[in-house]
Amino acid sequence: MPEGRARISGNIDEMNQGPATQTLADLYASHRGKVSDKWTIYLKVYEELFRPYRASKLRLLEIGIQNGGSLEIWSRYFESAAVLVGCDINVACTQLRYDDPRVHVVVGDANTDHAERAIAVYAERFDLIIDDGSHRSSDIIRSFVRYFPRLEQGGIFVVEDLHCSYWQEFEGGLVDPWSSVSFLKRLADVINHEHWGKPYRRAEVLRSFESRYGAALDEESLAQIHSIEFYNSVCVIRKRAREDNELGPRVVVGTDAITAAQLMAQHGALAVADAQNANAWSVLPPLPEDELLELRSRQKDWLQTEAELRVELEQLDARVGTKDQQLNHCQQELQLTQQQLRTTQTLVEECNGQLVALKDEVRAIRASASWRVTLPMRKLADFLRRG
Ligand SMILES: C[S@@+](CC[C@H](N)C(=O)[O-])C[C@H]1O[C@@H](n2cnc3c(N)ncnc32)[C@H](O)[C@@H]1O
Repeated sequence: MPEGRARISGNIDEMNQGPATQTLADLYASHRGKVSDKWTIYLKVYEELFRPYRASKLRLLEIGIQNGGSLEIWSRYFESAAVLVGCDINVACTQLRYDDPRVHVVVGDANTDHAERAIAVYAERFDLIIDDGSHRSSDIIRSFVRYFPRLEQGGIFVVEDLHCSYWQEFEGGLVDPWSSVSFLKRLADVINHEHWGKPYRRAEVLRSFESRYGAALDEESLAQIHSIEFYNSVCVIRKRAREDNELGPRVVVGTDAITAAQLMAQHGALAVADAQNANAWSVLPPLPEDELLELRSRQKDWLQTEAELRVELEQLDARVGTKDQQLNHCQQELQLTQQQLRTTQTLVEECNGQLVALKDEVRAIRASASWRVTLPMRKLADFLRRG
């Protein structure tokens, strides 16, 4: 390993005594060359993070260089850097020229094998990787998966402009389970893998990102994630050897204990997580995002069913309306018929009255003297008529 790189994972104080004098903010303030675009807080955070690396033979990769100014400034800030590679998808970047022979530009989509190979021509591995590319969640996650294995142990991976993770245009949102910040937060679980109390592989908690973005880190790479720090819009992931990331034996020192004296016997003990078999919140699958997806698809079904039921209800309403009309019509006809019936009954009653009067008249005629006197004559006339 070259001298500078050996020093990166070595004594930080020793590295602090590098020749550099101007801070990053100074360099940005006095810069006159190619344009660079960073937010103020980045310069402050980077000063703390990068100072220990200034005197080292650093290998830097920046994804997304635009006008190329940041590469120019990095080359001044990291005076002892061995190589500084910038990658940008914009073909206009082919025009970028640098006098500094340590600076190289690769034009292409950083998330392709082609660009990765072109980058590897200048350095197989890097001590500092800065992702300032498209800021879309898919690109950030894919770039991390692709280039973290190329990060040297003791190195730093920086993701910039994470405010985009909260915006839909960049494939994000405050609680978007597949946003870049959601992915990065999950790395905190990966770091604490030994305490899960479940026999899951580290990659299990990143499974949904794997299926969504087709990108996954192997167990060894995940075991080398040493820390993850969030700043406003910036995330910093440090890489160290697997053994540097283990909790290690317990350190209990001292001779006087006013309480919990049994702790003293724990000196040198290793952490053993209690099995979390009865803990519903430790069970995979489903991951919360999978459950959310399932719920959303069910909600879609419910909405569809609700829409279908609404249509059905409208059809039933229309049928009830038609039936109501028919009922009204029938009721009107019934009223008419009842009226006619009442009129007919009145007529019948009148006829009956007349009939009774006629019968009385006939009875009166038959009982009269003239009827009886003329009876023999009418019988004779009847006899003659029959012949
Ligand atoms: C914010 S600018 C970079 C600014 C620069 N780092 C600076 O500090 O001045 C983002 C750049 O990322 C580039 N970019 C977007 N997607 C990319 C990808 N997939 N691979 C490489 N570069 C990409 C864009 O072309 C753009 O120039």
